[in-house]
Amino acid sequence: SYTPESFVESTVAELKAQLGQDKVVMGLSGGVDSSVAALLIHKAIGENLYCIFVDNGLLRKNEFEQVLESYKGLGLNVKGVDAKDRFYAALKGLTDPEAKRKAIGKTFIDVFDDEAHLIQDVKWLGQGTIYPDIIESVSVKGPSVTIKSHHNVGGLPDYMKLKVVEPLKLLFKDGVRQVGRSMGMPDHLINRHPFPGPGLGIRILGDITPEKVAILQNVDHIFIQGLKDKGLYDSIWQAGAILLPVQSVGVMGDERTYENVVALRAVTSVDGMTADWAHLPYEFLGEVSNQIINKVKGVNRVVYDISSKPPATIEWE
Ligand code: XMP
Repeated sequence: SYTPESFVESTVAELKAQLGQDKVVMGLSGGVDSSVAALLIHKAIGENLYCIFVDNGLLRKNEFEQVLESYKGLGLNVKGVDAKDRFYAALKGLTDPEAKRKAIGKTFIDVFDDEAHLIQDVKWLGQGTIYPDIIESVSVKGPSVTIKSHHNVGGLPDYMKLKVVEPLKLLFKDGVRQVGRSMGMPDHLINRHPFPGPGLGIRILGDITPEKVAILQNVDHIFIQGLKDKGLYDSIWQAGAILLPVQSVGVMGDERTYENVVALRAVTSVDGMTADWAHLPYEFLGEVSNQIINKVKGVNRVVYDISSKPPATIEWE
């Protein structure tokens, strides 16, 4: 019968047979899927797995440093690459969500490709694809519209002409977490909320600048830290903040302000395909809102998103 332990055992055996002495390169995102996939492959082939973690300048506050440390703690052979400026340059002036996704996706491929070329004789590309990724990327490509191009499916393999190894492609998120746990991955990695590949790039509506990223990182950090401090984080599927392309009037002392509006979004879900807005306590929302407005310069208004999916999506772009 199936257990996470039996999955690990059989998958590692299959990976060993499939990969032999071959080298595998893999991009890590900080998320649970790519981390668990990497651990499985690492268990099978050890140092022949070369992991690359790219700072695209669109990660959460302090995320790059913290996650890199966690990966090293797990024994992974990982290289951190600071590519912030390349991403900001590629995004300059872009406002359309799909154009931003494409620019981020393309820049990632370029950076990744440069790094992969530094490794001799790589044969495989490791991917943290899970079952819902496959379903979503098929179902969104309807006859007439592409809702969102999830760039973690497709794209890379053709471009790089590598064979793809995807040890999690038959699992749902819950199964991935169980497998990670059974391999001794720490809770703070296992229980991380999903975070989109394009990161804060699709949570800053309109064009992206490093200044806006800094504002949103600070807002997001207060919200997420608040959820953790109040023991709410684990009951939520995903949460984050969105920087709206809107200024609103406020008052501070005798002064009239005209500053940014941020939206907070938190949802419950089992697989991300449908989602309910999270009924967070009013007290909590009030405290977080006060903290954000008092501490983050440039923000004078906070709103909470009470839309469910469908018809709204989890992300705003
Ligand atoms: P939506 O907004 O479609 O999001 O309800 C469903 C889940 O997918 C994530 N998401 C993305 N992940 N690249 C990703 O890797 C993307 O372009 C992308 N767009 C949305 C979203 O965060 C949620 O978990």
